[in-house]
Amino acid sequence: MSQAEALTRYELFIDGASMAPARGQYFASQDPFTGKDWAMIARGSEADVDRAVHAARRAFESGAWPALSASGRGALLRRLADLISENVSRLAEIERRDNGKLAAEVVTQVKYLSEYFHYYAGLADKVQGSVIPTDKPGVLSFTRHEPKGVVAIITPWNSPLTLTSWKLAPALAAGCTVVIKPSEFTSASMLEFAELFARAGFPPGVVNVVTGFGPEVGAPLVSHRDVAHIGFTGGEIAGQKIYEAAACGLKTVTLELGGKSPNIVFDDADLDRALLGVVSGIFAAAGQTCQAGSRLLVQRSIHDEFVRKLVNFVRDIRLGDPADPGTQIGPIATPAQFDKVLSYIEIAKAEGARCVTGGRARSDIGSGQFVEPTIFVGVDNRMRIAQEEVFGPVLSVIAFDDEADAVRIANDVQFGLAAGIWTQSLQRTLYMVERVKAGTIWVNNYRATSYTSPFGGFKRSGIGRESGIDAMRDYLETKCVWLSPGLDVANPFVRR
Ligand code: NAI
Ligand code: MG
Repeated sequence: MSQAEALTRYELFIDGASMAPARGQYFASQDPFTGKDWAMIARGSEADVDRAVHAARRAFESGAWPALSASGRGALLRRLADLISENVSRLAEIERRDNGKLAAEVVTQVKYLSEYFHYYAGLADKVQGSVIPTDKPGVLSFTRHEPKGVVAIITPWNSPLTLTSWKLAPALAAGCTVVIKPSEFTSASMLEFAELFARAGFPPGVVNVVTGFGPEVGAPLVSHRDVAHIGFTGGEIAGQKIYEAAACGLKTVTLELGGKSPNIVFDDADLDRALLGVVSGIFAAAGQTCQAGSRLLVQRSIHDEFVRKLVNFVRDIRLGDPADPGTQIGPIATPAQFDKVLSYIEIAKAEGARCVTGGRARSDIGSGQFVEPTIFVGVDNRMRIAQEEVFGPVLSVIAFDDEADAVRIANDVQFGLAAGIWTQSLQRTLYMVERVKAGTIWVNNYRATSYTSPFGGFKRSGIGRESGIDAMRDYLETKCVWLSPGLDVANPFVRR
């Protein structure tokens, strides 16, 4: 048996069934810890996208899905949520193997997905229009919020099922149907996840998955005339291309494009707690998160003390096998990302930043695709290491003098996804909360997110918000109805 035959093979999921790709091609997915191929994934193309979008459109317009009441959709979503709970360990193991994230973190994330679907199951039948008291006598005016239609969901490799579910749960609760294009690096978990929708009783065509590469699957999906809305999480470059293509088709988008978030530590903060917040902000998931607190802004009076404590802590961080419960930092998820992280370490050095810990690859662990937790001090906020998203375990430390200085530095980037503020002063807290331009502000904590609360970015971090009640709006179209009881056209040439 050849190696390729021994690997698990994943097909596309279209119209409720596994399906071979039109061109019959497959590509390998690696386990970043071992560096070895572990699965073969169907390589979709435009023809497969077309099949999937047609299935989604058919399911949207006819059959069991549009016939369901909103409460009926909620019931299906609840059944799915329960099936997720029963399948946590299997789904989590696939994700860990595919992107190298720590087992403990992936299990927590996948378990939590069930809560997302329960929350939006509850919202499904709470979408209400309103009766509008207009100035026109004798006419009833009311609104209906109707599902937009076929939604495209395009996701990256860092939290595949979570970032998909942020879009999928409200889209389905709203009554849309979807075509999902997972990252080419982490497609397997989504294909296993799709089977759960069939088992929960979702009609065929409501959820479809087309795997493959950005230009071959993502691009034709975004441009497909029957796709009404695109939900995307990923890098800036792909995000911008998607926005341009969506503009050509006059489609709506939700874009979440990462950041360069500041973690701001004031001299009155509880420094031991702030330290853990800073570590979680940049070294959890090896820094491969959109919300990474990749700039540490620390008040000059405590700069040296805080950096010393931080370096002491970071030196003891354990790198290793993500399946091992003792591991704190796993591998970098892809070879390209590994090269990118290392290249930014060189850029920082060339710009004159000083590396106080880390800075090297660890070729002695597993596949060797590991980067030491790295801290640069003496960073000027105009340096590339302070302006561009690295998406790795690399922290830039920048000193500031007072609140106004902290605000100026915090906002002097193109991004605005999140910020952390560490202080015990209520005055400082309010001053910062009002002025820092970011979609999420964590005060004395970092990385808290929930299905209940909106998440998204200012500026180049994206467009729109996910999670919470308002996220449903992205998947709904408003229709205004004017209803006259009798014939009511007095003069056809003059507006009523
Ligand atoms: P990417 O942004 O290129 O890919 C994300 C998804 O978009 C994938 O499914 C990809 O196939 C698809 N895609 C790519 N080009 C497309 C196109 N023209 N049309 C439609 N779909 C397209 O992310 P990649 O290459 O994995 O990472 C690149 C950088 O993006 C990272 O180094 C990191 O800085 C950033 N990133 C940000 C994330 C976030 O959570 N905001 C997540 C992952 C990466
Ligand atoms: Mg992989």
